[in-house]
Amino acid sequence: MFRKTPLLVAILMLAFIACTSKKEAEDAAKKSPTPSEAAAPQPEVHGTEVKAIELTNPLNKEWVSAGKVNYELKCLACHKLSNEKLVGPGWAGVTKRREPLWIMNMITNVDMMLEKDPEAQKMLEECLVRMPNQNISQEDARKLIEFMRSNDGEK
Ligand code: HEC
Repeated sequence: MFRKTPLLVAILMLAFIACTSKKEAEDAAKKSPTPSEAAAPQPEVHGTEVKAIELTNPLNKEWVSAGKVNYELKCLACHKLSNEKLVGPGWAGVTKRREPLWIMNMITNVDMMLEKDPEAQKMLEECLVRMPNQNISQEDARKLIEFMRSNDGEK
């Protein structure tokens, strides 16, 4: 009887330790990310992906003018209206070769596009400059697209 007791105690203690340490490990796993996750740089998120965009005909003339103003302020330094490349590609024909939604996300979510979209990545390889995120609102981006459509000869 006395000889068995220490063994029993030892088993019970072991079971207790094993149990708490397992629980602790689980808690720790829940709380802190694995080292690789913690070390990975978090991508900056500037906007949410736009999922739908509507084009109307004829063009909204007010939007074309507003888009032109923004183009001159924020895009002209890198984009020509011809097909000549400056820092980025010229805009001539851009509304024909790209989907409106693609253009929309390129303007409002350029970081996401450069990270995920093969076409955007191909351009980055050619241009060697990352188009900067300029915090353009979806509304302003839509007006810029109207201006691009007008530049491409739509009425
Ligand atoms: C500092 C230079 C710079 C500025 C300013 C800039 N872009 Fe860009 N843009 C680029 C570059 C470079 C690319 C090609 C993708 C890349 O390398 O990141 C590009 C690509 C694009 C494309 C895709 C063109 C195509 O042929 O498919 C669109 C659309 C676009 N930009 C819109 C805009 C709009 C709208 C603005 C202004 C609000 C703007 N960009 C301002 C440099 C710029």
